[in-house]
Amino acid sequence: MTEQFKKDVLEGLNSSPKFLSSKYFYDKVGDELFVEIMNMPEYYLTRAEFEIFSKKTQDLIDSFEINKNEKFQLIELGAGDGTKTKELLKELVIQNFNFEYIPIDISQHTLDKLETSLNTELPNLKVNQKQGDYFEVLSSFKEGGVKKIVLFLGSNIGNLTDDLSAKFLYELGGNLDKNDRLLLGVDLIKSREIVLPAYNDKQGITAKFNLNLLTRINKELGGNFDRNLYKHLPEYNEEEGIAKSYIVSTANQKVDIKSINQSFEFKEGEKIHTEISRKYNDDIINKITKHTDFNVENKILDSKAYFADYILKRN
Ligand code: AVI
Repeated sequence: MTEQFKKDVLEGLNSSPKFLSSKYFYDKVGDELFVEIMNMPEYYLTRAEFEIFSKKTQDLIDSFEINKNEKFQLIELGAGDGTKTKELLKELVIQNFNFEYIPIDISQHTLDKLETSLNTELPNLKVNQKQGDYFEVLSSFKEGGVKKIVLFLGSNIGNLTDDLSAKFLYELGGNLDKNDRLLLGVDLIKSREIVLPAYNDKQGITAKFNLNLLTRINKELGGNFDRNLYKHLPEYNEEEGIAKSYIVSTANQKVDIKSINQSFEFKEGEKIHTEISRKYNDDIINKITKHTDFNVENKILDSKAYFADYILKRN
């Protein structure tokens, strides 16, 4: 992990323009800040998808085309605290479906917390948590003869470029069987007045989340970034439908990173690109699924049409 982190920081800060990957946001502090972001009034994404899970639960269930005599596995990629999924799980348990819930996450701590809360809230639910890489876990279930419904929520796919999303979906399809389903939760393209504040909350939590990357480089790679000399900059262009986050240097400065034996110059106003958060419409979903084994079957929206849960069928 640290070797890869060093390699990526070296590559990103030696590039022009500079960039760092948003996957490095998520250390312990970053995970906690992201939970705070999800509770910010401006961050509509989580609430919108929660509304779908709580108010359109039956539509979701119907779209899976499952029946009560056939066992299935409900597999969630990056389960987190399961707040949205619990709405669906509750209803599946009440309706007596024959299934097990398989949350996959990179963090064992997250999985243990989720399992403890599920054991109390839904004692009859079968939980089979798996820690690790999504595709490694999924390939271990392939051809098990049990139908799979995979959840990938929260517009997490939007942190990948379209090329990488297409590759991700292609690989995901390769780990599933005919008639399995993918429920893909994505944020939709909408006006700048709504999207931009979600990435620039008034309390400055998103700014802390972005700048935490510099603290992480300081801690883990021996860097000497002075966080006070950088600021968070979000951008959103409605035509393109992509929110982008940058860290901007507010002064001419030099930073040393000990573990990679290099210093880096920053000009006043120079940006480091740290994240993309892609927003979607049907055309973009069709484009990224075109060369995969999935067909788009259905789309379930929240009441404001801010967010969509697409149902993709593995053909
Ligand atoms: C995890 N991901 C979908 C979030 C997003 O909206 O792109 C991460 C995030 N970045 C800033 N705020 C939230």
